Amino acid sequence: MLSALKKYLLLPKLVKLASNAPKDPGVAWDQYWGRVGATGARGDVLWDSGSDHELRAYLEHLTRQLDPSLPIVDVGCGNGVFSRALAAYFPHVLGVDVSANAIARAAAESEGLERVSYAAVDMTAPAGNRAVTAALASAGFTGEANIFIRGVLHVLKKPAQAALAGQLHPLVGKRGRVFLAETDFHGNPVQYVSHLGATLHSIPGPLEKAIRGLPMPGRFGTAQRRRAFPEASWDVVEDGPVTLETRPLKSPDRPEQIPGYFAVLQAR
Ligand SMILES: C[S@@+](CC[C@H](N)C(=O)[O-])C[C@H]1O[C@@H](n2cnc3c(N)ncnc32)[C@H](O)[C@@H]1O
Repeated sequence: MLSALKKYLLLPKLVKLASNAPKDPGVAWDQYWGRVGATGARGDVLWDSGSDHELRAYLEHLTRQLDPSLPIVDVGCGNGVFSRALAAYFPHVLGVDVSANAIARAAAESEGLERVSYAAVDMTAPAGNRAVTAALASAGFTGEANIFIRGVLHVLKKPAQAALAGQLHPLVGKRGRVFLAETDFHGNPVQYVSHLGATLHSIPGPLEKAIRGLPMPGRFGTAQRRRAFPEASWDVVEDGPVTLETRPLKSPDRPEQIPGYFAVLQAR
């Protein structure tokens, strides 16, 4: 009991670390991506496990539920880990991110790869869908697209989640579908960071970088999806639990696992 309560002594440390993060989320993300060093299993980026294990679990849904003749847009692509992997399954992948630094990083990590392109777009902004349509057109694709989103909605506030969903609606049209996979950890921030290896004495480096520089994440499960993607506009084709993987934190080689939620959605 005492040791369970002891972890709450972490709270003041978390509050102090987070207190200097930029208040504007777009600025915070761009600053974060401008400062990170290496990516992958030994890198700085908390959510980049350096392995395709998590994607392989999604492939069953992606290949069964999404039209493989349509391009796919990786929304909030970060350094493009998933964009590059998706290129094996769709004719084109467009990775978009609010951070120009993330897009520069994704492009550099994808150099020489065909069928992948990137664009800096704020997908919560009213012109987000038009910017995506223009970027797809310059890659030679017009009409509907599929959408892939991993680990983005849970870092947005409720109005931004709804705004992003609204931008996706015209992009998917009749034939495209949205696949989303999000963190759905049932617990408070102290329990979350403890789950990822933070103790009173130390916080794993990639986790500390995220706490210091980024908006506080929440969770995105069925209730959050219902609110952001209302029934009047979206049909749920399939949904359920998934596991998201982070960079190894508590041991050198084994990614940490975060309980998550996935959904495949179709516009009404
Ligand atoms: C936790 S990271 C996940 C990155 C990537 N999806 C992955 O799984 O490797 C969240 C990403 O969403 C991006 N992002 C946050 N707000 C966004 C917005 N309004 N429009 C587009 N991207 C956004 C961030 O810059 C960041 O790269």
